[in-house]
Amino acid sequence: MTQHDYERLGYNGLSKRLFAAGYDLLNAGVENRVIPYRRLTAGLADGRVLEVGGGTGANLKFYPPGVDLTFVEPNPHMAHRLQRNARQLGMSVNVSPGFGEDLPFDDASFDTAVTTLVLCMVSDVERVVTEIRRVLKPGGRFLFYEHVVSSHSKIKAWQGLLNPFWKFATTGCNLNRDLSGEIELAGFSNVELRRFSLSVGLPITIPNIVGVAIA
Ligand SMILES: C[S@@+](CC[C@H](N)C(=O)[O-])C[C@H]1O[C@@H](n2cnc3c(N)ncnc32)[C@H](O)[C@@H]1O
Repeated sequence: MTQHDYERLGYNGLSKRLFAAGYDLLNAGVENRVIPYRRLTAGLADGRVLEVGGGTGANLKFYPPGVDLTFVEPNPHMAHRLQRNARQLGMSVNVSPGFGEDLPFDDASFDTAVTTLVLCMVSDVERVVTEIRRVLKPGGRFLFYEHVVSSHSKIKAWQGLLNPFWKFATTGCNLNRDLSGEIELAGFSNVELRRFSLSVGLPITIPNIVGVAIA
């Protein structure tokens, strides 16, 4: 992907730069509560690993030693931070520009794929999960941790009301996506997922899913 492509897609603009610069700070308040789910995704990866939407590299320190790590990250300001954080941790990683909707890899080339807090932001969830299944080897695992829409009508209504503001402030994160349906319908041989509420400080909880899909 060229600089021109990023500009055309609005991925090199000021808002994306600010989101990348503020992301770790924005996350700092909840990061401790998220760590168990980073361990259940990145922490269980093995072999040749693809993380889609790696952001600033929040998962880096949770990967087991010896994994061969590739990231796809469309925001160049995030990618820059990811590379810098990997260097500081003494980790050698590949960071590719690109989008989950069109992964620049051959079929069946990874043992594990990981997304954490990414499917809320992509343009086309169905295409991203189909692409993830395509690049996984047969039997390969897709480990995911995502926030989702609530099944309670009142919370769901609040998520719908807040969504336009949240989406604007975060340059594209949606509070009101189901996501489990797209993962279950993407043709994986087996999907196991658990729903839970993540407390981000009383009285607010956010509905989440964590799980694994087998290619
Ligand atoms: C909320 S951040 C999560 C970052 C990281 N995975 C984490 O757990 O902290 C979402 C990331 O997904 C990236 N992203 C947005 N749209 C994407 C797409 N279509 N394909 C791949 N990554 C995307 C964003 O640039 C951003 O870095």
